[in-house]
Amino acid sequence: MTAVAPKVEKEEEQVVNPWEVSAGKGGIGYDKLVDQFGCQRLDAATIDRVARLTGRPPHRFLRRGLFFAHRDFNEILDLYEKGEKFYLYTGRGPSSESLHLGHLVPFMFTKYLQDAFKVPLVIQLTDDEKFLWKNLTVNESKRLARENAKDIIACGFDVEKTFMFSDFNFVGGAFYENMVKVARCVTYNKVVGIFGFSQEDHIRKISFPPVQAVPSFPSSFPHLFSGMEQLRCLIPCAIDQDPYFRMTRDVAPRIGCQKPSLTESRFFPALQGESTKMSASDPNSAIYVTDSEEEIKKQVNKYAFSGGQDSAELQRELGANLEVDVPVKYLNFFLEDDDDLEQIKKGYGDGNLLTGKVKNLLGDVLSELVKRHTRARAQVTGDG
Ligand code: TYM
Repeated sequence: MTAVAPKVEKEEEQVVNPWEVSAGKGGIGYDKLVDQFGCQRLDAATIDRVARLTGRPPHRFLRRGLFFAHRDFNEILDLYEKGEKFYLYTGRGPSSESLHLGHLVPFMFTKYLQDAFKVPLVIQLTDDEKFLWKNLTVNESKRLARENAKDIIACGFDVEKTFMFSDFNFVGGAFYENMVKVARCVTYNKVVGIFGFSQEDHIRKISFPPVQAVPSFPSSFPHLFSGMEQLRCLIPCAIDQDPYFRMTRDVAPRIGCQKPSLTESRFFPALQGESTKMSASDPNSAIYVTDSEEEIKKQVNKYAFSGGQDSAELQRELGANLEVDVPVKYLNFFLEDDDDLEQIKKGYGDGNLLTGKVKNLLGDVLSELVKRHTRARAQVTGDG
């Protein structure tokens, strides 16, 4: 007799790295990620401290726990409290014509941090990364970088305090010296352990991580930070970028540099739901900042996964499941007013609001956001 193995419902494994984000039906387990990656949770005391030090109300991404994790953010705040400055570093891998709404999250947060702390910012466009990972030519990657730069400038950074560069144009000199120093400290085994590269991956993928690591060090930018080699760096990003900076923090003291600090966000979900992020690799998952009002409303109405019930009667009786509802999750990111948000959540959860109404509200909020962005983008000249 052959034994039949009992059927066990296997928990779907979640994958979060710079190139892939996927999880089971329950969505991404952020608590699990914090433990797995070894970062810290961003607690209420730290958020209060940011508000106190900057004299500004905390950004809605902080109030609502959307930036939820960090690495040594408190050390940056300690220094700032003593009157010392730091600089910000963030970036974009230009893989599409324009940014999608998920990409706006770290850039909006970075703008808030730059305004609140009045600090310099460097922005890296990893056109080389996208050449290596996507099927793009060098020229196409560079063109996308220029297009994406316009969307980034439209976020409104302080031009006097911001330096944006593309790797293809900028890597060399002190930046390259730091890349080589980092690379010498990271073995093949280590990089495979952190990023999961396989034997079939080409060698330039395996040697890419130092390129994203070294903007964390002020000595990579002598034209900006000469004589300030120990200036601390704070990196706002979503948690998918954490592996790069785990590696960077591991290497930093070995080459006489300060470890960068990080603030890390949850993902703005795909239209289809929280089991993955909004991603340029899957155009159906995304709303772009260049989409028209009509397109945005159509996308929301047609594709945004709803936690509402199938019929108006059932919705009135049972209310919506807010845990899985994409429109409510999007409003959580982009509707500024806390009271309005609470009212919508309550009405929708109780069954007084129908799905169509909530989707219409979201369509209005996103259209307004994208219109503002389009106006700002139209002012960008393309010089420089
Ligand atoms: P990229 O182009 O994939 O993403 C740019 C930034 O957007 C974040 N992000 C998201 N945030 C919230 N919800 C989403 N659905 C979502 N999708 C992407 C990313 O975490 C990132 O912060 N290798 C990088 C470019 C880079 C970089 C950096 C990013 C170079 N240096 C320093 C952050 C910090 C990349 O391809 O990002």
